[in-house]
Amino acid sequence: MVRLVITIDGPAASGKSTVARLLAAKLNATFLDTGAMYRAATLAAMLDGADLTNQQRILEVIDETVFEFKATPNGMLVRIDGVDATAQIRDPKVTANARCIACLVPARERLVDMQRRFAQAYERIVTEGRDQGTVAFPEANVKFYLTADLNERARRRQAELKAKGVIQTDDEIRQAILKRDQSDENRAVGPLKLADDAVIVDTTGLSVNEVVEKLVDCVKQKCSVKP
Ligand code: DC
Repeated sequence: MVRLVITIDGPAASGKSTVARLLAAKLNATFLDTGAMYRAATLAAMLDGADLTNQQRILEVIDETVFEFKATPNGMLVRIDGVDATAQIRDPKVTANARCIACLVPARERLVDMQRRFAQAYERIVTEGRDQGTVAFPEANVKFYLTADLNERARRRQAELKAKGVIQTDDEIRQAILKRDQSDENRAVGPLKLADDAVIVDTTGLSVNEVVEKLVDCVKQKCSVKP
């Protein structure tokens, strides 16, 4: 039974995943990486060979596929029909195609359902995405909105990709981030937007630990639940 829900929303490469994982560890909570769910649905459609503009087929794939998500200290473990897909869902092709799923209303509804079901199994949840405070968990105890300027976000994405051996130019990364911002902000369902009661945290120039400390302080102030 979930008792503490902290949501972290924000644009691509604003540092949400890293911060959410560390915050979850500090609060003894489970980290829910909802982007991994969108990525898993996207990869499942790609593996099926589905035309990503064929909405009906995408929904069939989501309904026919067995997705497993397991929180681990290193992030979310993802299995698609029993096969580990944790690394594959981070492929830039999946990143680029995820837009097709994220814009699809019934797909979002299914994924929000998955997120709520996942959360029900745990007492404390730190969840990260685009619509967690606004759509998936509007009753969350504390809602954060993380931002960072474009240069900083591009730098972070570059470092992340390099660590995985993926080569992209700075310009390609910048363009991809801008494209995703636009798609995240403008879709009709579950768009990236600020919840009225969200705490905005600009992470530009802050270390990961500084951001996490800020968030922990805020949770301590706002919640009666002891971290
Ligand atoms: O955070 P991420 O890069 O792993 O997200 C992957 C894709 O899923 C990206 O296109 C945004 C989308 N997404 C979404 O629409 N809603 C969420 N709650 C999480 C991710």
